[in-house]
Amino acid sequence: MSKVNFFSGQQLPLEMHKVRIIQKLNLLPIEQRRQAIEGAGYNTFLLQNSDVFLDMLTDSGVNAMSDRQQAAMLIADDAYAGSATFTRLHDKLAEIFGMQYFLPAHQGRAAEHILGQALVRPGTLVPMNYHFTTSKAHITARGGDVLELIGEAGLQVTSDEPFKGDLDMAALRRVVEQHGAEKIAYVRVEAGTNLIGGQPVSLENFREISEYCRAQGVLSVLDASLLADNLYFNKTREPQCRDLSIPEITRAIADCFDIIYFSARKLGFGRGGGICVRDETLYKLMRGLVPMYEGFLTYGGMSVREMEAITVGLDETMDEDMINQGPQFIAHMINELQARGIPVITPAGGLGAHLDAMRFLPHVPQAQYPAGALAAALYVASGVRGMERGTLSEQRDADGVEPLANMELVRLALPRRVFTLSQVNYAIDRIDWLYHQRDLIGGLRFVEEPEILRFFYGRLAPVGDWVDELVAAFRADLGSSL
Ligand code: F0G
Repeated sequence: MSKVNFFSGQQLPLEMHKVRIIQKLNLLPIEQRRQAIEGAGYNTFLLQNSDVFLDMLTDSGVNAMSDRQQAAMLIADDAYAGSATFTRLHDKLAEIFGMQYFLPAHQGRAAEHILGQALVRPGTLVPMNYHFTTSKAHITARGGDVLELIGEAGLQVTSDEPFKGDLDMAALRRVVEQHGAEKIAYVRVEAGTNLIGGQPVSLENFREISEYCRAQGVLSVLDASLLADNLYFNKTREPQCRDLSIPEITRAIADCFDIIYFSARKLGFGRGGGICVRDETLYKLMRGLVPMYEGFLTYGGMSVREMEAITVGLDETMDEDMINQGPQFIAHMINELQARGIPVITPAGGLGAHLDAMRFLPHVPQAQYPAGALAAALYVASGVRGMERGTLSEQRDADGVEPLANMELVRLALPRRVFTLSQVNYAIDRIDWLYHQRDLIGGLRFVEEPEILRFFYGRLAPVGDWVDELVAAFRADLGSSL
């Protein structure tokens, strides 16, 4: 049962935790922020954290830990092999997912690397609801192809559809009929579909996918990195889950898959990752890759302290009070932005609030990276660091052609249990100001474009002198405000 906070007639999120350790923040004056973004090549990934006021770049590895997690770190068992810490993590995963085998890895993409090495061959296909950048990179690096089978609603920016992350079953059947089950390396389903706005997958869809894959003898793989938010939405939006507990929903989802992998930088409020496997043969197929690329089988590149924190974090993920805060803060942000006419992805998803740069900046062509430009402009106007999720985050194809992304989004991630509602309201207010100045904002062009995962460290420059105009407008409008 979720707790509700009514304040002056408005329903607000109610945090079921209190802050006991704090970190001081900096809010630089706008002139210094302008210099900082220029120094960062207009790429928010390249900003120094000390120049950032509210870091909404990601929820990865930056979720706040609980007192129980910090305490657990003290009992970490430092051993190269056979650490009791590993046993505790293994047993917790077995308890919540019901899978006997666990291969540790240092983070989510390391798990994707192992899956790719073990299961993807040149010419094989990996159908999925939607790609994530690192998942796609590991599959294509092995010569496999990614097929995105997201349902129609998934790519509609605004919608009432509660489960926009659902995979289109008819499309999956067509793919298998056309290519044959033997060509499918595995079907990958991403909970809390990241790149389309943290949109959840229904239990019903998980079950349909599972039933079909089992009938066809095709492996099914769950990317559970964003499972916590997905569980919240199953519980609150799906009638068949209303009377189930979070552990029961988790197990019902896990039962649909042969393999579950995750980034523990997201799931479990820690830093690490790994692969849970149901079947011994599959486990043995991948096992040898862990000591080769990650570390011995009982740590896989993770620190034992983090492993203890993840074990407790996974336990907390099974507690509704602990997973509500993220999605409820995001819903607050989306509602407030929408009320001001600002284009956002709806319905509110997990992970963060997503601004729709295509509608925010309709005058900026996709080839000039509207989402990248909006992320840079938002940093200048507020010190809030968001992340481009659009054409910049795509990679050029084999012929060097730049694909235009389906969506141009600025993601404002809300790391769990980190921000206060007043900080979120500050971000909303500055986004509102920026929206009124939107005609001033122009595009970006590459100055330095890396070949792989270019969004991480590519450098750009503004097209024209719109950044100076934005700073001047800020001073004219907001006076001496920071
Ligand atoms: N899968 C999903 C759905 C993710 O969101 C991420 C990471 C990964 C896999 C890779 O995990 O970072 O531990 O290697 N997402 C981060 C983000 C980077 O900011 O959204 P990782």
